[in-house]
Amino acid sequence: KNIVILASGSGSNAQRLMEYFEHHTTIRVAALFSNNPNAYALKRAETFNVPALLFSRNEFVNSDKVLLQLQEYQPDLIVLAGFLWLVPQHIVKAFPNKIINIHPALLPYYGGKGMHGIHVHTAVVQAKEQESGISIHFVNEEYDKGDLVRQYRCPVLPHDTPEELAARVLQLEHEYLPKVVEELLLSNGTENSQR
Ligand code: GRF
Repeated sequence: KNIVILASGSGSNAQRLMEYFEHHTTIRVAALFSNNPNAYALKRAETFNVPALLFSRNEFVNSDKVLLQLQEYQPDLIVLAGFLWLVPQHIVKAFPNKIINIHPALLPYYGGKGMHGIHVHTAVVQAKEQESGISIHFVNEEYDKGDLVRQYRCPVLPHDTPEELAARVLQLEHEYLPKVVEELLLSNGTENSQR
């Protein structure tokens, strides 16, 4: 089975996926796509000998170029791991129930446009939430709105800075994202295809 990763930034989650599946018998990371020429994720892909592809907004949104490139890798699952652009409709439609995103908070709260990276954790700390966590969800045409696959929780400590909370949440992501991806790919698909 093939995983294709989309990443815009550091790519530490992408790295975890590439490590976890490097010697897997039936699942591999087939490619990593990025919209950002400076994304460290691209370098990480090179290290793992995973093909790394860069695309522009125009190619992504206004043409079939990225869609066709994605199809070449025959993805069974497309994982948005720190990918910051909205996925255009023609791509969402082409891969029904095959695109997931990881979000560093407990959706439906603290999601949506502009809610990414440290902004999420700043909002959670300011609201004095006692809990945060991660959400892994299917992707539809709206930011952070598709059906949930899994959530995992961690405490927000009274004196946490957004950075401290971010680190705790990122650890959860690193621990669980590969496992959830594996589970989705190894489940016989009936439950997913009915969604
Ligand atoms: C993660 O917190 C992810 O939830 C969010 O962006 C961050 C990406 O981190 N969508 P990295 O690029 O995987 O290090």
